[in-house]
Amino acid sequence: MTDALASRLPLHVHEYRRLRDLVGQQFGIQLTDDKQVLVTNRMGNYLVSRGFQSYTQFLDQLETERGGPLLDDLASLISTNHTYFFRDDVHFTMLSTTVWPELEHEARRTRARDLRVWCAASSTGEEAYSILFTMLDYFGPRYSTFEAGLLATDISTAALDQATRGVYEASRAAAVPAHLRDKYMSRRPDGKMEVLPEVRREAHFRKFNLMTTVFPFKKPFHVIFCRNVMIYFDVAARAALVERLKDCLVPGGLLFVGPSEAIHGEVGLEYVAPAVYRRKGRR
Ligand SMILES: C[S@@+](CC[C@H](N)C(=O)[O-])C[C@H]1O[C@@H](n2cnc3c(N)ncnc32)[C@H](O)[C@@H]1O
Repeated sequence: MTDALASRLPLHVHEYRRLRDLVGQQFGIQLTDDKQVLVTNRMGNYLVSRGFQSYTQFLDQLETERGGPLLDDLASLISTNHTYFFRDDVHFTMLSTTVWPELEHEARRTRARDLRVWCAASSTGEEAYSILFTMLDYFGPRYSTFEAGLLATDISTAALDQATRGVYEASRAAAVPAHLRDKYMSRRPDGKMEVLPEVRREAHFRKFNLMTTVFPFKKPFHVIFCRNVMIYFDVAARAALVERLKDCLVPGGLLFVGPSEAIHGEVGLEYVAPAVYRRKGRR
């Protein structure tokens, strides 16, 4: 489908407003007025290829379906999935030097065996695998003595599919420290880099909308990464999300956010380091 064809499908102001309201309600993502061109670029070809005659027709069908595959497609089209391995690497250094050793010490002290980590808004998987690589590297053979695992979630099924495959261009994998890349990734005949199957097995990628008002997790997490997604939400949605994230941390558990997502005045969390917060209370 050519761009010329897609651009024959105009996005009228009233349609953009309808779409903006729907995206805000469903995903929390704020589409400001300056995003209209971006939206047409992302959606035009899709709508034409699916036989929609107008944005109104698409929006009508979306409302009739109420949460079917069209909404899934919209999430994939509208979300910004920009990410890379070891983004804000100071957080990963902190995992290796402080967080994993402390959690291991605590687990031995309390004779606990579980270690629950959640990478919320994991996009195409680079962040989740970065966490996992540091975890496997720190624990080594002791990893199997824990009931450890990584839950990684996103609203974009397209991003989650790529994450589950765990295959990346060599240029992207170049951001993984060499010793970890050598241990946990392999080069495919086509030159791409693939996360080893035994590593992939430890990451559980699932679709999950952070706007869900009651989080369904049975047990709280020791570590949550929720980085570079709250920037797309409004102040109220961010505050409510932080509250829900805090509630699903163990006391003493850590929340990592993006560098421009500082949390102010939230009850129940204390500042640990830039963009890192600890749930108050004793373990
Ligand atoms: C810019 S990426 C950040 C990826 C990664 N956390 C990082 O810091 O590199 C933002 C991700 O948030 C996801 N996202 C946006 N709104 C969401 C929502 N309501 N629930 C879950 N994920 C969402 C998008 O699909 C996208 O993959």
